[in-house]
Amino acid sequence: MLRATDLSQSYGDDPVLRGLSLDVAPGEVVAVIGPSGVGKTTLLRTLALAVEPTGGRVTLDGTDPWAVDREARLSLRRRVGMVFQEATLFDTSVARNVAYGLRVRRSWSARLGEGLRSLVGADGTTGAVREALEVVGLAGAADRHAGALSGGEAQRASFARALAYDPDVLLLDEPTSDLDPRNTAVVEDAVAEARARGIGVVVATHDMHQAERVADRAAVLLDGRLIETGPTDRVFDDPDDPRARRFISGELVY
Ligand SMILES: Nc1ncnc2c1ncn2[C@@H]1O[C@H](COP(=O)(O)OP(=O)(O)OP(=O)(O)O)[C@@H](O)[C@H]1O
Ligand SMILES: [Mg+2]
Repeated sequence: MLRATDLSQSYGDDPVLRGLSLDVAPGEVVAVIGPSGVGKTTLLRTLALAVEPTGGRVTLDGTDPWAVDREARLSLRRRVGMVFQEATLFDTSVARNVAYGLRVRRSWSARLGEGLRSLVGADGTTGAVREALEVVGLAGAADRHAGALSGGEAQRASFARALAYDPDVLLLDEPTSDLDPRNTAVVEDAVAEARARGIGVVVATHDMHQAERVADRAAVLLDGRLIETGPTDRVFDDPDDPRARRFISGELVY
């Protein structure tokens, strides 16, 4: 389980996160919603164990990555996959991009002594790559060059790469911001697939309807804190916090 406790994050003297707490259980989807610039990406980067919090801590199964040596920190980090708001693909084919996620996972598993058979299909790497591409509706694009993809296709290819990696926790930063309704549905189905595989998912979005569709729990980020957290229906239908109520009703515009 990924757990943030009293987490703070600043850029220089500018505090963005001011002491927030959040748990993500295996097979649970948590939506973090909040207006632009509120700190959603900052929160996800911190949960990805990519940057050290300026206060509080993040733990994965009880271990604080910033309290162990570099090697142990890297092992923890490899269990968390992140799909960035702007797709970051390598300058090669779509299939190779997705296979990269798998290779990282394999070298890590080999070090832990896990059997590779459970990770690689009968026909080797390609099976898992194809499967991940199918989940995001890009089965036909395996041999295309990543640089030639549209923004939405690139976003889905990044998602496939993260899925092939088979993380314990998947962090998705505005995963459908570039997508039309049909492809939004494809990605939302992929989130459901990740959940069914027991992956804990955090999805940052300013699309409240998406949060309602995909998430078990929702958390509203405002002024550096999660001012409202709970089962998605409850947060949307009957928020306790007056600011959350105003944000959800569309009254609070930033
Ligand atoms: N590398 C950085 N250095 C300095 N300030 C930053 C940096 N990254 C983000 N910020 C600032 O931190 C605040 C939170 O940014 P962040 O990107 O986390 O917000 P967000 O909720 O993801 O926004 P959006 O919905 O537009 O993606 C903003 O005021 C932003 O300008
Ligand atoms: Mg962002």
